[in-house]
Amino acid sequence: MLQLSKVSTPPSNMRLHINGEHIQFTVEPLVSLLDVLRDGLDLTGTKKGCAQGACGACAVLDDGKRVLSCLALATKYQRRHIIRIEGRVPSAEYGPTLHSLQSALIRNYEFQCGYCTTTLAAQTYVPLLRHRSFSFQVYLAKLTIRSRS
Ligand code: FES
Repeated sequence: MLQLSKVSTPPSNMRLHINGEHIQFTVEPLVSLLDVLRDGLDLTGTKKGCAQGACGACAVLDDGKRVLSCLALATKYQRRHIIRIEGRVPSAEYGPTLHSLQSALIRNYEFQCGYCTTTLAAQTYVPLLRHRSFSFQVYLAKLTIRSRS
């Protein structure tokens, strides 16, 4: 018969760069990046939806790539640069105005509860980083058509 024994792994000391801020903390090995952000650091702009990688509500950017933080172990992101939905708010670092993507979302999209906003922003920001000729209106139209089919 298979013998299972409980393996105890000590917590890891972590260093993250979140929205340009350096944060140090200790985390258990199997804690998700989402739980660190929301429960550990009280950064609740990133939402917890399905917690299974299906809805995208937990999306963050890791060096320009979209990551579903509910499926990501926090320890994998040691010293990484994470940008969350609040990452481009008016500040000393980014200037006095919203990022053009955030302004376009406010102008062109009628949010109801706003729970999906983080997903939409993260999904839109990635092609925006890759393609200078990116059109927000065209991309939004594609997303809308895709979500209706
Ligand atoms: Fe749904 Fe992460 S919470 S994909």
